[in-house]
Amino acid sequence: MENIIEANNIVKYYGEGENKTVALDGVNMNITKGEFLTIMGPSGSGKSTLLFSISGMDDISSGEVLFNGSNLSKLNEEEVADIRRLQMGFVFQEATMLKNLDVLDNIILPSYDENRKNKVKLISSAKHLMDSVGISGLENRNIKDVSGGQLQRASICRAILHEPEILFGDEPTGALNSKNSEEIMNLFQELNDNGMTIMLVTHDSKVAAKSNRVLMMKDGKVEGELQFQNESFDERLEKITNRMMGFGI
Ligand SMILES: Nc1ncnc2c1ncn2[C@@H]1O[C@H](COP(=O)(O)OP(=O)(O)OP(=O)(O)O)[C@@H](O)[C@H]1O
Ligand SMILES: [Mg+2]
Repeated sequence: MENIIEANNIVKYYGEGENKTVALDGVNMNITKGEFLTIMGPSGSGKSTLLFSISGMDDISSGEVLFNGSNLSKLNEEEVADIRRLQMGFVFQEATMLKNLDVLDNIILPSYDENRKNKVKLISSAKHLMDSVGISGLENRNIKDVSGGQLQRASICRAILHEPEILFGDEPTGALNSKNSEEIMNLFQELNDNGMTIMLVTHDSKVAAKSNRVLMMKDGKVEGELQFQNESFDERLEKITNRMMGFGI
């Protein structure tokens, strides 16, 4: 399968001198088109840094990241920003939405500039997405008056409205209760079934058990990997739990 992302020996430091922290210590990994990858590992192991590094949100100290074969370090800032804006989508633990706008406007806002001439189509696509994630009817609700689960559904709509090639999530279910978390995970799985490449960072084995491959990080390195094919959810969960026991999680 073709790689959408390939990371070769990436190293990332934060700070200088005494304050220097090695957050990524020579990571090799790839994401193939259409796969659903999750990243697990203890707090501070470098999961978020890996996500920021391979998505061009943050510079790396050495090594290379290829996105569809292009070396991100060789592109200028604007080119990387274009890749992020047009070909990637992001969902975080806390959805940051604009408080004085309604749900629909928040969803279409980042895609609006690209589609200024076609606002009608954009609104119709956004409404369709809202319906498919179970929040139709909330279009004109002020963003501060929706629940955490609804807010996260809206942020997923916002992240995929421009039909990105890859969706990144850093603990997207971390702030949700278990019922909402499961519903959001089913949604990610559905998106992946429909062809979207997904990479999620998670602490939750139940979230990882929905994915096809799990990378385990420790001390800035990828220390292990599990691949799934025909295993049931429970079998995946058991394999992940067993593997994680050695990781102090
Ligand atoms: N902006 C920063 N400045 C300095 N050090 C940082 C910064 N961001 C992260 N670090 C350090 O880099 C290391 C990796 O952090 P990272 O946030 O990637 O871990 P993580 O696996 O995502 O942890 P968590 O599960 O708690 O979110 C940690 O030692 C962290 O303290
Ligand atoms: Mg993190």
